[in-house]
Amino acid sequence: SQPLYDRAVEILARNDLGYYTVPTHGLYPFQWNWDSALSALGQSYVNEARAWTEIETLFVHQWPDGMVPHIIFHKEDDGYFPGPAVWDTGRAVPTSGITQPPVTGFAVRKLYERARDQPMARARAQTLLPKIHAWHDWFFATRDPERTGLVAIIHPWESGRDNSADWNAALSRVPTEDLDTSHRRDILHANPSHRPTNEQYQRYFWLVKHFRSLGWDTARLHDGSPFRVVDPGFNAILLRSCSDLAWLAKELGETEIAATAKTQAEKGLAAMDGLWSALHQQYLCYDRVLDAPIPCLTVGGLLPIFAGISPERSTQIAARLSALAERTTFMIPSHDPNTPEYDGERYWLGPTWLIVNYMIADGLTRDGHIDIAARIVTDSMKLIVESGFSEYYDPMTGAPCGGPHFTWTAAMVIEFLK
Ligand code: DGY
Repeated sequence: SQPLYDRAVEILARNDLGYYTVPTHGLYPFQWNWDSALSALGQSYVNEARAWTEIETLFVHQWPDGMVPHIIFHKEDDGYFPGPAVWDTGRAVPTSGITQPPVTGFAVRKLYERARDQPMARARAQTLLPKIHAWHDWFFATRDPERTGLVAIIHPWESGRDNSADWNAALSRVPTEDLDTSHRRDILHANPSHRPTNEQYQRYFWLVKHFRSLGWDTARLHDGSPFRVVDPGFNAILLRSCSDLAWLAKELGETEIAATAKTQAEKGLAAMDGLWSALHQQYLCYDRVLDAPIPCLTVGGLLPIFAGISPERSTQIAARLSALAERTTFMIPSHDPNTPEYDGERYWLGPTWLIVNYMIADGLTRDGHIDIAARIVTDSMKLIVESGFSEYYDPMTGAPCGGPHFTWTAAMVIEFLK
C-alpha cells in the first residue's frame, strides 16, 4: 500500500549518506557489505542511479586481492566496537578485514533487468562485472583451498548470522580474548537480550586479533583460523550470485567470465548436495576443522533454495518450511522453535528477518512453491504493519527487535510491494 511504501522510502532517505547507506544510525554507523547490496534493490525503484552508486561504493573499497570487506568505515564514529583502530587493516579508508555474504551478483542482475535507464544500466553493470567476478574468484581461491566447490567462513560475522547456534561448537574452540562489556557499544543502542552474549564477543574479538597478527594476508587466514565452517546459507548466496553473474556476463558479451562463473555455480551446487541431511530434511553446516556436519536446525540450511537446487530438494525444503509454518506465527524463524537453543528475540537464535524471507520466497516462487511463498510474504508485511521497520522480529509475538528504522527491512518492503 502507498503509506507503507512512503514510510519505507523515508527510511532509505533517513539512512542515506549520499554514496552509501547506513543500516541504521547508532547501532551500525558505517557501510555494511550485504546490507548495501540488498538495500540497493529497494532503492532501485526509488532512485535508480543512486542504487547503482550504493554497490559501486562497495567496490571502490575492494581489496587488491579481490576481497570486498564486510564494513567500510567511511567516517569516524565512537559509537561502534570494534572500530578501525582494532581492525588495523592499513587501508586508506579503513575497512574490516573479513567479508560477508556476496549477494552483489544477484543484486546487479536484478538492477540490470528492471532498469528503466537501459544505457546507464549496461554501462554500470559492465564496469561492476569483472570486480564482482574477482571477488568470487577470491572466495574459491582462498576459502576453498582443497577445491571442493564450497567456501568456508572464518568468522561468525562473515555469515551475517552472527550468533547462530550453527557456530556454537566451532566457536567454543576459539579462545576468549579479555574483553569486558564496557567495550561493547551494540548493547548501548539495542536491548542486550536481543544481542550476542559477552562470551561470544570475547571469541569474535580473539579471532579479529588473531587475523591481525597474521597481517591480514587473506591467503593465510583460512588455514590459520581455528574457526572454519562451510555454511549452506552463505554458499547458496555465493552460488546464486555466480549463476546471476554468468547470466549477466553472457548478456554483456563477456564470454570468459560467463563460462567461469557458470562452472563455479555448477560445481558448487553439486557439492552442496553433500550438505543435505536426510534425517533433518534440510542442509547442515559442515565443520572443516573436525571434518564433520553440524546437526543444528537453522535457516542457513533452508537458504539453498535461493541458489537453484534440484526439484527434489526444492520440494523437500518447501515441505520443511510448511511444517515450520504450522507452528510459527510470523515466518521464517531463523532457528527451529522446537529446539532448546531457540530464543525468539536474540538476533539469529530465532528471530525472523525480512531479507531471509525475501531470498527464500524468491527461490520458492521460481520453483513453483507458490502457497508457502505467499505465506512468507504475507507474514512479512504483517510484521511491518504491527511492529514497524525493525531489524528483526520475534517469530511468535511479532515484537520488534534489534535496531529501529532499518534500511534493508525498508528495502525488502519495497520489493514485496512491487
Ligand atoms: C555487528 O557488529 O553486530 C555486526 O553484525 C558485525 O558485522
